[in-house]
Amino acid sequence: MRNRINDLSPRDWLLFQKSWFIHNPPPRGKSVLLHPAKFPESLCREFIEFFTKQGQTVLDPMAGTGSALVAAVGCGRCAIGVELNPKYAAIAQERIAAELGSRLPLGPKGLVGRVIQADARDLPELNIEAVDYVLTSPPYWDMLRRRGFETQKKRREAADLDMYYSDDQADLGNVDDYEEFLAQLVEIYRRVAEIMRPGAYATIIVKNVKKGGTVYPLAWDLGRLVGDFLDLKDEKIWCQDNQRLAPFGMGNAWVSNTMHHYCLNFRKPPLRPGRPRPSGRRKPASAAGQEETYVQQDSTGSV
Ligand SMILES: C[S@@+](CC[C@H](N)C(=O)[O-])C[C@H]1O[C@@H](n2cnc3c(N)ncnc32)[C@H](O)[C@@H]1O
Repeated sequence: MRNRINDLSPRDWLLFQKSWFIHNPPPRGKSVLLHPAKFPESLCREFIEFFTKQGQTVLDPMAGTGSALVAAVGCGRCAIGVELNPKYAAIAQERIAAELGSRLPLGPKGLVGRVIQADARDLPELNIEAVDYVLTSPPYWDMLRRRGFETQKKRREAADLDMYYSDDQADLGNVDDYEEFLAQLVEIYRRVAEIMRPGAYATIIVKNVKKGGTVYPLAWDLGRLVGDFLDLKDEKIWCQDNQRLAPFGMGNAWVSNTMHHYCLNFRKPPLRPGRPRPSGRRKPASAAGQEETYVQQDSTGSV
């Protein structure tokens, strides 16, 4: 049976379909410790191997120190990243070079690994060719600057590590109004969607955030707003179970120790001759469900 999505065996396909997983990130290397919030390469690799085939191209429009890009070239994909902070962009490029075996932009298998230091809002001007998959994680609003991060701040300060991404006005981690932050972020994703090839998937790794006793449902808001121009498929929930519990609100109020992230999966509708996509909001769930069933049966024959 032809598998249009990836190079996995039916068994590995099925294993990835579980809607949650536990991943405790391994300790970080020196070069990437500087960055305050990166996700693990091992996690990226599982997503990339599910959503692409060898030789396809992965984009991270807010690449940080390049976890998604390093994972991509490490498993035989091409990688393109955009990152605002020149320091992180340089680290990402060096890490890709090391992974590729130092010949840039071409590695031994003809793989391309490129990091563009730029504002992701300028994506349309960056001449990036159509990409096959997007794996990314935004700043979690301005949470790195909030009060309550003091313990972590002290630890990072003592070790001379960054406490937030930058002081750049264009850095979305510096926008203090939630609605404004959300609007700017969604606009970046809209530009990303324009350079995805039809049928390509995008995974956004994100958390809901709490500030001053209020929950801001960043993950759910992105599901709804990005779902206006990409089809929201469903989430995988990434759980961490190696973090110390803190007695937030004990005896007084329910406040969770949040140890999960949402990996929100979206898809740009495939081109179907003679079936123009309805404009406006997403298709009704029944239609989306039919398409999923078709793709699963067609791709693996096992579900
Ligand atoms: C959560 S971090 C990404 C971490 C990355 N996934 C990793 O594992 O290293 C978000 C990144 O977005 C970058 N960023 C913020 N505003 C940006 C913008 N307007 N354009 C491009 N990058 C931006 C920050 O500098 C930060 O590195």
